[in-house]
Amino acid sequence: MLELARVMKARAYAPYSRFAVGAVVRGESGRLYGGCNVENAAYPQSSCAEAAAITALVAGGERRVTEALVLAGGPDLVTPCGGCRQRLREFASDATSIHLCGEGEVRTLTLGELLPLSFGPRHLGQNPDQ
Ligand code: THU
Repeated sequence: MLELARVMKARAYAPYSRFAVGAVVRGESGRLYGGCNVENAAYPQSSCAEAAAITALVAGGERRVTEALVLAGGPDLVTPCGGCRQRLREFASDATSIHLCGEGEVRTLTLGELLPLSFGPRHLGQNPDQ
């Protein structure tokens, strides 16, 4: 996962923040899907690496994230932004491992730790697998 995340991070388009991010999610099939952040001169139109990886998983015909990894540079471990925690929550469970990677450091938390008491499909009476 880390190898693919490195490739993704290298492909990030982040000329404004200069903060390149690579993300990888694993589907139930075991296949890995990667994404990178893609910024825009109209800043709010930028998209996060996790969002791109999740889109690739869904476009690949899968519906569940069994594991995720996020990689960025800088001295601090990168943690998914609030919006991306919610995006992950749609396709993962509280127990899903999320690997946070910085320069030389890796820390694994569960999605439930990153987004406790989360709002989800069940609040809307939906089956999350649909
Ligand atoms: N970014 C991500 O791709 N994922 C995150 O979880 C945090 C932030 C990107 C968005 C933007 O391109 C840059 O990092 C700085 O916020």
